[in-house]
Amino acid sequence: MKTIKQVDFKGKKVFIRVDFNVPVKDGKVSDNTRILAHLQTINFILNQSPKAVILASHLGRPKGERKPELSLKVVVGEVENALNRKVIFLDDCIGEEIKKKIENSNGDVFLLENLRFHKGEEKNDENFARELSSLADVFVQDAFAVVHRAHASTVGITKLLPSYAGFLIEKEVQYLSNLLENPQRPFVAVLGGAKVSTKISVIENLLKKVDKLLIGGAMSYTILKAKGIQIGSSLYEEGFVEKAKEFLKEEKLILPCDHLVSKSLKNPVETKTVKEIPDGFYGVDIGDETIKLYHEKIKNAKTIFWN
Ligand code: 3PG
Ligand code: MG
Repeated sequence: MKTIKQVDFKGKKVFIRVDFNVPVKDGKVSDNTRILAHLQTINFILNQSPKAVILASHLGRPKGERKPELSLKVVVGEVENALNRKVIFLDDCIGEEIKKKIENSNGDVFLLENLRFHKGEEKNDENFARELSSLADVFVQDAFAVVHRAHASTVGITKLLPSYAGFLIEKEVQYLSNLLENPQRPFVAVLGGAKVSTKISVIENLLKKVDKLLIGGAMSYTILKAKGIQIGSSLYEEGFVEKAKEFLKEEKLILPCDHLVSKSLKNPVETKTVKEIPDGFYGVDIGDETIKLYHEKIKNAKTIFWN
């Protein structure tokens, strides 16, 4: 992995892919953690007197349309505060106007408008990637939360510009590599979420590495269904019950043995803890016995990986 430590940024126009996909409430950023996470990388580059720093991100899922409520303008103030300097907001991420402004830069920091206002971003369209790349001399990837997506600003652009990983990527990869290559044991993973379907390969991979894999969340009901346990009206994925049967053979995989249920998903109605879920009830959480069981496993762990 090539990192920004190997680059001289002096006089360069630097395109940094950041993840400013922050929570917004009533037109304000309600949590700036993701912005602060990039400071180390941005400041490291700024300290080397680049010609321009171009910050690029998505916000939400506008699906290729310009949606005013998903404009990245909302983060400008937060980014300025964090960097303690002026940030120039550009109301698009490609085009001659934008290019000209960046050409005239004198060490300025720019923030481009939401990349996903263009269909080309999520399609990893080559022309869109080329337009993005034409703004800069160097590409820096610092948006760990989007590197699993094959988009123009994560994959396409790296074919067109010299590309390097920022500190956030380097750090996350280091943590994860340590976990996967040399974990302190017992190594316990805790996995939840609604869908088994999107996590099959994660489960398969984790089972090779961990000592115990504790399952929670709605995805447990698909696996419990595969086991022949009554799941009542709980959320589950019909199409994945067969696949889930394979996981039942795994001794490392631990399923909830009792469940907190409710007659309504919206409100706690007639809640109780059961071993099998009666018709008309929804599983909403693990039960007391499961809590005890998971507590025991987690307490004895030397490494805990929580998704
Ligand atoms: C995230 O919030 O997980 C990242 O910013 C990626 O967003 P996405 O799931 O819409 O690609
Ligand atoms: Mg995510």
